[in-house]
Amino acid sequence: MKPSVIAIFASGSGSNAENIIAYSRAGADSGLEVALVVCNRPDARVIERAGRLGVPVEVLTRAEINDPAVMLPMLDACGVDAIVLAGFLLMVPDFLLARYPGRIINIHPSLLPKFGGKGMYGRHIHEAVVAAGETETGITIHHVSSECDGGAIIFQATVAVAPGATADDVETSIHALERTHYPRVLAATLSRR
Ligand code: GRF
Repeated sequence: MKPSVIAIFASGSGSNAENIIAYSRAGADSGLEVALVVCNRPDARVIERAGRLGVPVEVLTRAEINDPAVMLPMLDACGVDAIVLAGFLLMVPDFLLARYPGRIINIHPSLLPKFGGKGMYGRHIHEAVVAAGETETGITIHHVSSECDGGAIIFQATVAVAPGATADDVETSIHALERTHYPRVLAATLSRR
C-alpha cells in the first residue's frame, strides 16, 4: 500500500492530530505519513504536541493560508497529496480545493447535517446537543467543500447521550469515537494501492 502523505491543519488542542500521527507510525503499512502540521494560532496546544513528536509545524496567518504563493510550494516541497482537518477553524481556500480534489477531509463532532454550519464548533456543538435533548450524537467524517460542513459524508458513528449528561460528558464520548475511527477512515480513504 502506498501511504498518503498528509498535512494536518489544526487550530486547537490537537488530540486528533496527535492520534493520527501515532497511528501513522504504528505499523509500516498504516497507509498514512504525516509530513507537517499547519496551524493558524500561535498559542494552540497542537504546536507543542506535534513538536514533541518530531513533526514539522508551520504557524501561518490567515492571510498566508489564503495565499497560493505561500501554500502550494510549501505543500509540494513536502510531497503532500492530501489535507486532513483536525479542529481547523478557518475555511479551506478554493485554490486548495482545486489542487486536492476529493483529498481534503474533515471531522465534525456531530451527526451532520445536525449541529453543523457557521458557529458550530467545539463546545458550542456539545452544549447545543444537550440543550436540544438529543438522545444520541456522534461524529461525521466528510469531504471538504466550499460550503461550511457541507461536503459529501464518508463515515458516521453514533453514541448515546445519557439522561442528565453534560456537554463535558458528550465531549468525552465524542473524543473517544474520534480516536477510534478518524485515523482508520483516513487511511482507508486516502491511501493508494
Ligand atoms: C474535535 O472534536 C473535532 O471533531 C472538531 O474539533 C475538535 C478538535 O479537537 N473538528 P482536537 O484539537 O483534535 O483535540
